[in-house]
Amino acid sequence: MPRGFEYQRQRMVEALRGSGISDQRVLDAMAAIPRHLFVPAQWRHQAYAEDVSINIGQGQTISQPRVVAAMTQAAAVGPQSRVLEVGTGSGYQAAVLAALAQFVFSVERISALAREAKKRMDALGISNVSIKVMDGTLGWRAQAPYDAIVVTAGAPEVPDPLVEQLADGGRLVVPVGPLDRQVLTIVERRGRRTKRRVLQNACFVPLIGLHGWEEERG
Ligand SMILES: C[S@@+](CC[C@H](N)C(=O)[O-])C[C@H]1O[C@@H](n2cnc3c(N)ncnc32)[C@H](O)[C@@H]1O
Repeated sequence: MPRGFEYQRQRMVEALRGSGISDQRVLDAMAAIPRHLFVPAQWRHQAYAEDVSINIGQGQTISQPRVVAAMTQAAAVGPQSRVLEVGTGSGYQAAVLAALAQFVFSVERISALAREAKKRMDALGISNVSIKVMDGTLGWRAQAPYDAIVVTAGAPEVPDPLVEQLADGGRLVVPVGPLDRQVLTIVERRGRRTKRRVLQNACFVPLIGLHGWEEERG
């Protein structure tokens, strides 16, 4: 008989710890958020496999827990942080960030996904996430500056508007590279200067928008 979701979630967290995620706050957040409620019912049995991404419809995916953990750890958000997420998808990454930050602004270009994600936040009583349908490569200027920005789709280049919307000392975590492979890049802003470093390889669905990839036609 399959074990319960809580047990599976605990196992996932242990696997994440074993793979080098050391920030206890990130592990606690992922131990608390019921990831199985963010995936379609037929894939719930895979919800806590730490290295599996799952189709959420509209040609999009929910990222592997291992990637969510690495990006969240790199974002280094604290209880006072204002965070922008680009690519709401299922809402799972936003829910994990919301457990750590003061407020999360999350933008999604596909309205059906944004609507479902909003329903999940409401059902789980997560009240510090705002979701908006828009091209997230432009950021969400009205709510800027952000202490952290997490982009969950692959960009050809670091989108300039996102760097501009970082607070002093803020960090942007973004997968950058060609369509079939990227590197998770961290851009830190110090005054008017920025510092870049690379975290790990990644493979994300494309970031489509004015400062991303062009939408495929036909
Ligand atoms: C890998 S999925 C995101 C997974 C999501 N963070 C989660 O926890 O389920 C990438 C998402 O980025 C969205 N996306 C792509 N380009 C975008 C853009 N310019 N602005 C906003 N969202 C975008 C896609 O529609 C897709 O839902």
